[in-house]
Amino acid sequence: MSTISVKGISVSYDKKRVLTNIFLDIEEGNIYGVIGPNGAGKSTLFKAILGLIDPDAGEVKVLGKDISKVRKKVVYVPQRDDVDWQFPATVYDIVMMGRYPHKKIFASINQKDKDIVNQALKDMGIDHLKERQIGELSGGQQQRVFIARALCQEADIFFLDEPFVGVDMTTEERIITMLKKLASEGKTLLVVHHDLSSANDYFNKIILLNQRLIAYGDTKAVFTQENIQKAYGPQLTILHKTGLIGSKD
Ligand SMILES: Nc1ncnc2c1ncn2[C@@H]1O[C@H](COP(=O)(O)OP(=O)(O)OP(=O)(O)O)[C@@H](O)[C@H]1O
Ligand SMILES: [Mg+2]
Repeated sequence: MSTISVKGISVSYDKKRVLTNIFLDIEEGNIYGVIGPNGAGKSTLFKAILGLIDPDAGEVKVLGKDISKVRKKVVYVPQRDDVDWQFPATVYDIVMMGRYPHKKIFASINQKDKDIVNQALKDMGIDHLKERQIGELSGGQQQRVFIARALCQEADIFFLDEPFVGVDMTTEERIITMLKKLASEGKTLLVVHHDLSSANDYFNKIILLNQRLIAYGDTKAVFTQENIQKAYGPQLTILHKTGLIGSKD
């Protein structure tokens, strides 16, 4: 059984088709880079899998079930623009929210919850910020808070939409190390990412998307010049300049 099975998903906004006929079998214990240009439908794919938007056609199963049956096992960190960062709550409270799916109604927070939250704060290097209001933090600090919350949920499947945007290199390394560790423990991660030069190192699987699925599977097999060109088209010259892919002559 695949961890996530996407069968023929198509999505439109106001009758404009943005994803067409996507098929995916996501396998457990892997870290997938979801890659494609702006507007390719990466965030939309996440939202469709998560049941946050209704596809025009197709079917998604997560752990063999409808997403509504397995929400506790799934964590989603949206793209920064999609989140209201100004709501009044402390860093500690927000990270603790990661524990709520594990609690019965009215159950109080216990020592185990506190230990898990404190560990996540330490892992993300934001222990010293825990009493601060989320709205007062820098962009990169906020991003670390939301990753820490995701870690506390002890989910099996992680959807992270551009987790490295606005974070410094040290934080990025800290986060990717954590994500690779989760994959090695059998968790499944999908990560939207724009930096093609680090994708090889970060992800063992790649989903290359531009409204249609260009290719997906092992990073080596998918990340070819031909596939990248199919996804990015004319922007490819920029990739030549970065030295990511060799020039044809
Ligand atoms: N709520 C919405 N209403 C109408 N159109 C939308 C909506 N959300 C996204 N779109 C459109 O759907 C297409 C895919 O958007 P999506 O956000 O999935 O792309 P993306 O690959 O995540 O891009 P980016 O790299 O910029 O985050 C775009 O053309 C976008 O303008
Ligand atoms: Mg997006």
